[in-house]
Amino acid sequence: MAQDVDPERAEVQGLAREAAECRRCDLYRAATQVVFGQGPADAALFLVGEQPGDQEDKAGRPFVGPAGRILDQALAEAGLDRGRLYVTNAVKHFKHEMRGKRRMHQRPNQGEIEACRWWLNREIAVVQPAVIVALGATAARSLMGRPVVLLREEGRPLTWADGRPGVATYHPSAILRARDDAARTRTFAALVAALTQAREMAGDFLRATSKARMG
Ligand code: URA
Ligand code: SF4
Repeated sequence: MAQDVDPERAEVQGLAREAAECRRCDLYRAATQVVFGQGPADAALFLVGEQPGDQEDKAGRPFVGPAGRILDQALAEAGLDRGRLYVTNAVKHFKHEMRGKRRMHQRPNQGEIEACRWWLNREIAVVQPAVIVALGATAARSLMGRPVVLLREEGRPLTWADGRPGVATYHPSAILRARDDAARTRTFAALVAALTQAREMAGDFLRATSKARMG
């Protein structure tokens, strides 16, 4: 198949296979499997979440659970097609604690974020995106190499530590956790605005990759 001779695609698939054996931190121990990034290896727009959740851990794919459904709605409102984006996470294994029979999400710590940045760097090096969007503080911290005050930076064009342009915005699960409808509506609108901003920043690159993909 033509897709399989695409060298960048093959490189991403190779990285995913390597990451399945990763022991750079302890999170692989309790997780079902690695959840590597997905999407075209020539994507102009690159989205970074925090880490897989319960459903992602079982499916082996990023953003397929409740947060993924919010993300899909926000992408649709921003005029973006998920199939054209590369979507990944700052941390590739599901960190959780058992509460009864439920696996409760736990935030990755700084050491885990730094350990897993190895994979994020390699994904970015292959995909060479025009614009990188951080969904939430964990992704922003990873990409900036230091903590980012999301309230201050949210939705504005910024430059990540590696010099690439991007935008930091809320994580889709912030919308699920919002304390009331007003907060939910406001946070969702901010997420859509940030994704729209990123789409505009990537403008010509998004068109160029679509042409390359059709040819
Ligand atoms: N939350 C994330 O940050 N990433 C996923 O893949 C799913 C939920
Ligand atoms: Fe490796 Fe990242 Fe998994 Fe840690 S979370 S074991 S660094 S892939």
